[in-house]
Amino acid sequence: MSEVCTFTIRRWQPDDSAALADIFARAVRETASRDYRPAQIEAWVAGPADWAARLGASVTFVAVERGIADEAGRPIGFMQYEPPTRIDMAYVSPARQRRGVASALLAALEAEAKARQIKVLNVEASITSRPFFAGHGFSLLTPQIVRVRGQEFLNYRMQKKLA
Ligand SMILES: CC(C)(COP(=O)(O)OP(=O)(O)OC[C@H]1O[C@@H](n2cnc3c(N)ncnc32)[C@H](O)[C@@H]1OP(=O)(O)O)[C@@H](O)C(=O)NCCC(=O)NCCS
Repeated sequence: MSEVCTFTIRRWQPDDSAALADIFARAVRETASRDYRPAQIEAWVAGPADWAARLGASVTFVAVERGIADEAGRPIGFMQYEPPTRIDMAYVSPARQRRGVASALLAALEAEAKARQIKVLNVEASITSRPFFAGHGFSLLTPQIVRVRGQEFLNYRMQKKLA
């Protein structure tokens, strides 16, 4: 029998912090590592220790498993919206990628932005996430180099106009 991944989207809760920090580290180390050098990956994962606990200060959507008895409720991805127009973080567990998790998170985020009468969303997409955002209607504004903890990263400023 093939595995069926069913999930639902909800708002961030304070006790999500450890699970989201784990998803972040694994998505960077196991997925983004195909596009960035090891030194860049280590600089990327070495964010401020309390960043996951601070996600509630913005609008963070969390994808959680449902329907798999002992894993029900387990977070498998998250996306952070910094109103008015910025998408800040988008990470999905490596074992749950290419199953529409980030697409569902983005749909929830776009609905939230539209409810706030926001007309445009901006993201600084990694090399890894650029195809995802391009596939969801984001246009390339410009490639750029950003410096994070001593490492230089290529990423892409992208923008989507909301209908
Ligand atoms: C980018 C990321 C969040 C996408 O999550 P995801 O749940 O796998 O995305 P989805 O399954 O919703 O993808 C939907 C569509 O986007 C496109 N897409 C997603 N990832 C892609 C990739 N690596 N290459 C090409 N197209 C991709 C595809 O069209 C895909 O549809 P398909 O699988 O039917 O072909 C995930 O790959 C990730 O965590 N990456 C590492 C961390 C990172 O770089 N985060 C972004 C920081 S800005």
